[in-house]
Amino acid sequence: MAKAQSGFCLMSQAFSPSLFFTTLCLSASLALPLKNMNYIKAFAPATVANVACGFDIFGFAVDEPGDVVEIYRRDEPGLIITDITGDEGRLPRDPARNAVTVVMLRLLDHLKISDFGGEVILHKNMPLGSGMGSSAASAVAGVFALNELLGQPLTRQQLLPFAVEGERIACGSAHADNVGPALMGGFVVIRSYQPLDVFRIPVPGDLYCTLVNPDIEVNTKDARFILRNEVSLKNAISQMGNVAGLIAGLMQEDYDLISRSMVDVIVEPIRAILIPEFNEVKQAAIAQGALGCSISGAGPSMFTLSKGRETAERVGQAMQQKFAEAEIDSKVYVSAINRDGPRILATA
Ligand code: HSE
Repeated sequence: MAKAQSGFCLMSQAFSPSLFFTTLCLSASLALPLKNMNYIKAFAPATVANVACGFDIFGFAVDEPGDVVEIYRRDEPGLIITDITGDEGRLPRDPARNAVTVVMLRLLDHLKISDFGGEVILHKNMPLGSGMGSSAASAVAGVFALNELLGQPLTRQQLLPFAVEGERIACGSAHADNVGPALMGGFVVIRSYQPLDVFRIPVPGDLYCTLVNPDIEVNTKDARFILRNEVSLKNAISQMGNVAGLIAGLMQEDYDLISRSMVDVIVEPIRAILIPEFNEVKQAAIAQGALGCSISGAGPSMFTLSKGRETAERVGQAMQQKFAEAEIDSKVYVSAINRDGPRILATA
């Protein structure tokens, strides 16, 4: 297997956490194992999936927002959820039904650890159905935190199939283009789902993302349901050209090529109808110098890539203004591509 340039490369035998990987080429997680921990608090970032032309195969992490999971060890075996903040009471508190704890339970099962007891608190810092990888950030923060608490029995890449399973539970589709970058950081390519084959590509240091989250909700399941199952040969050719162009543009730091390649002829034209003012907001972003603009994940958030933070901030203001003209409130996040993925915030 060719080793990815960034050093991250993973293949699994099957798309299931219960099966081991056949090949794994990658250094272990950078953090040192912390033994005898009784408490951990971990953050995992929001992500932009699809990145215009790469439906289900491209994603990158941003610096903010992100979700936080806290785990307190307790004597009694099993997991309990003691609190969830920021979800307006919408997520299940039953650990057998909440995607975060289900994924953690699968990890414990896989490691054959039956005596672990933990109290889990989840802090949601982004709305559900926002298109910013909300469920992925929670699942990744949870599985990452538990793995650290246990002394890092698995590498981050070995945790990936567990996090993918979390997506299946949360929104009915086991896509990896949010959990991949949330867990590994950086810009991630899902070359194949069966077997799971994920790698990271380098991106220019001066590349900034503007993420704009309008105050409306789009259910990922619905946004997938409206897509067509067939793609014309003409559109497949266009999309493949853009996928190749975007990868080459990012790796060669060719901003013009990135810009020309941020075109989605398959998914965006269908999903754009779910986002009021989509075309106006996109045009406003491009007019302010964005390299390209599309839907973040399943929407309704929209994202752009720009050269330089200043442009990215100006673009964000213009996009927010367009939404405001249609009386839609929105939040704007500007960040470089987050290369780190999840991180520990506190331990005891
Ligand atoms: N690739 C997925 C989709 C991402 O577009 O449905 C969902 O966040």
